[in-house]
Amino acid sequence: MAAEKVLVLNATGKVGRNVCRALKEAGFEVFGTSRSPQNKLGQMGVEAVVCNYTVRADLDRALAQSGAKKIFVITDFFAAAKSSSTVEFEQGKAAIDAAKAAGVNHLVFMSVADAEFFDAHVTHLKAKVALEAYLKQSGIPFSILRPCAFFENLDDASNWNPLKKGRVKFLSLKHCKYVATYDIGRAAAVQFQNPEAWLGKTLDVIGWEGDLQQVAQALSKVSGAPVKASLAMPVFLRRLFLKDIHHMFLYYEEQHGPRGTPQAFKRVVPDALSAEDWFRFIGHYANGERIVP
Ligand SMILES: NC(=O)c1ccc[n+]([C@@H]2O[C@H](COP(=O)([O-])OP(=O)(O)OC[C@H]3O[C@@H](n4cnc5c(N)ncnc54)[C@H](OP(=O)(O)O)[C@@H]3O)[C@@H](O)[C@H]2O)c1
Repeated sequence: MAAEKVLVLNATGKVGRNVCRALKEAGFEVFGTSRSPQNKLGQMGVEAVVCNYTVRADLDRALAQSGAKKIFVITDFFAAAKSSSTVEFEQGKAAIDAAKAAGVNHLVFMSVADAEFFDAHVTHLKAKVALEAYLKQSGIPFSILRPCAFFENLDDASNWNPLKKGRVKFLSLKHCKYVATYDIGRAAAVQFQNPEAWLGKTLDVIGWEGDLQQVAQALSKVSGAPVKASLAMPVFLRRLFLKDIHHMFLYYEEQHGPRGTPQAFKRVVPDALSAEDWFRFIGHYANGERIVP
């Protein structure tokens, strides 16, 4: 039987490329969008579709070109929506409307865990709540994935936090819940493969929890070298310059959010990556040096 086709939006991003990888491994024929014809999706066995995932006409063309009846939808407040909730909502709505017009039989939407519970300063999550509501009344068959903080934030050169030997940095030293973007893809594969169990349902995507010292211990164990944990910026600067993100961290630090647990997620993806697993999974520091000697 021919593999089922899935179209992954924003396939070159941190989420998209690992969702493509997990869906390929699960046996799907994977199509991925990028604005650039020079993308490297082909090297991953992904069929590249040149498409700006925020533009309705591009989405219509990508769905027609791929013939996919399953779609993984991402929106992005900071880059694609240029820090506007209204624009992010319109971009997500365009993807939902395009999928409906193309007769998609399963749309997986990536939202954020506990998006409705953050305080009013956390503007970057508002469109996620509105898009979940829009999706639920759209009539399209859907399921929703709600990830917590990505492990990928620990190696994020574009946000001035490349992973370096001997040190892990994050915006909080305190207890946090983390997930690998690869496990978002593995959860999407479970939902696409079992529509009877998942259509209309929501899943919190949480792989591991611990404080930054425990993250450092995990890297130390994997690399065999001592590792220090430190703040990527002092908390008073986080409060002054990253007010929105600061208030998101207050929900993690003071209210122990999000409420979901790794134990619950592991009922769906039993071998969800821990911090140690994730360092082995990425394999390299930002400069290309191997983590496992
Ligand atoms: N970081 C976390 O801990 C976390 C946790 C939960 C949820 N999230 C969610 O994750 C989402 C972000 O996903 P991500 O990290 O995978 O994104 P990302 O890595 O920042 O995506 C980068 C890609 O976006 C495309 N892009 C950049 N600017 C664009 C523009 N102006 N118009 C259209 N496309 C543009 C580019 O692809 P091309 O050049 O190839 O087109 C680029 O490669 C957000 O919705 C966020 O809320 C993040």
